[in-house]
Amino acid sequence: MDVVILGIESSCDDTSAAVIRNGVLLSNVVASQAVHEAYGGVVPELASRAHQQNIVPVVHEALKRAGVRKEDLSAVAFTRGPGLMGSLLVGVSFAKGFARSLGIPLIDVNHLQAHVMAHFIKETPESTGQPQFPFLCLLVSGGNSQIILVKAYNKMEVIGQTIDDAAGEAIDKCSKVMGLGYPGGPVIDRLARQGNPKAFTFSKPSIAGYDYSFSGLKTSFLYSLRKWLEDDPDFIARHKEDLAASLEATIVDILMNKLSKAVKAYHIRQVAVAGGVSANTGLRNAFHEYAGKYGWQIYIPKFSYTTDNAAMVAITGYYKYLDKDFCPIDLPAYSRVSM
Ligand code: KG4
Repeated sequence: MDVVILGIESSCDDTSAAVIRNGVLLSNVVASQAVHEAYGGVVPELASRAHQQNIVPVVHEALKRAGVRKEDLSAVAFTRGPGLMGSLLVGVSFAKGFARSLGIPLIDVNHLQAHVMAHFIKETPESTGQPQFPFLCLLVSGGNSQIILVKAYNKMEVIGQTIDDAAGEAIDKCSKVMGLGYPGGPVIDRLARQGNPKAFTFSKPSIAGYDYSFSGLKTSFLYSLRKWLEDDPDFIARHKEDLAASLEATIVDILMNKLSKAVKAYHIRQVAVAGGVSANTGLRNAFHEYAGKYGWQIYIPKFSYTTDNAAMVAITGYYKYLDKDFCPIDLPAYSRVSM
């Protein structure tokens, strides 16, 4: 019998629903919330309200595009956390009500595990190229920067993580003070392509083990910028490409440095990247460069599966379904937890 999973993602500011049949993606609908742009960051209360408006039409559209009736579903998988509590509650409550009304099992999914599992999304039954276990995954998003040792789909160990800001958060905050808008990632990426990555030097952390830190870089960036602006009020307008390129290069360097240390120590050459920041051109180029130089076998997901999406939730749900790893209806959402 076919296994048909509906995945629901609502942890931050994207409402998403996806349908996967026997491990193959049939639809992935994402409604992004433009309402936050005016505020330069996600406003939690506005995010929850937008999720409430979006959730029913997004699920409806995902089922329609998949050509699946709700009666055909085997289970509903939902992001339980971590994320914004108000946002999570919309998806969690919808999933519970929907599964209960259909009399089918519920599957809770960890958002970070789902980002890693994005590598197992198959667009056709013939799709190949998924990583083999064990592999290392660099998970970089607006809220997380982690190096994960992936031993199985349900056995993941965080071997290093940020002790303060996430990489995406640092990019977003530096972009905001430069007046480039929110989210900063795509703008910094575009500008960086036209700038000199060696034009400016910002401080790099010196942290033990495989942990990251980005708050020092952020402070160094803000401090330098303030000084330059005192001398020249047009400094940003005249140097934004070089500033973006130097900031991006510093972040990529910090990320790759620890990652390659882990690759050497764990003797694992299969290296994946996941999360919103993996869309970054500089980071993607660095992965290709390391693959060529050090023989890494790299896995870079399609752009649409790097930012928040329900396809990654549905594929995680699919593997949990095969293991009959269901959850009770009274399971609460959680805002914080690693893995
Ligand atoms: O995984 P994600 O969609 O969810 C959150 O953690 O919220 O990641 C969003 C992050 C933001 O910080 C955004 O600026 C960053 O990913 N991002 C990028 C790029 N596209 C998105 N960072 C660098 N370069 C990009 N092209």
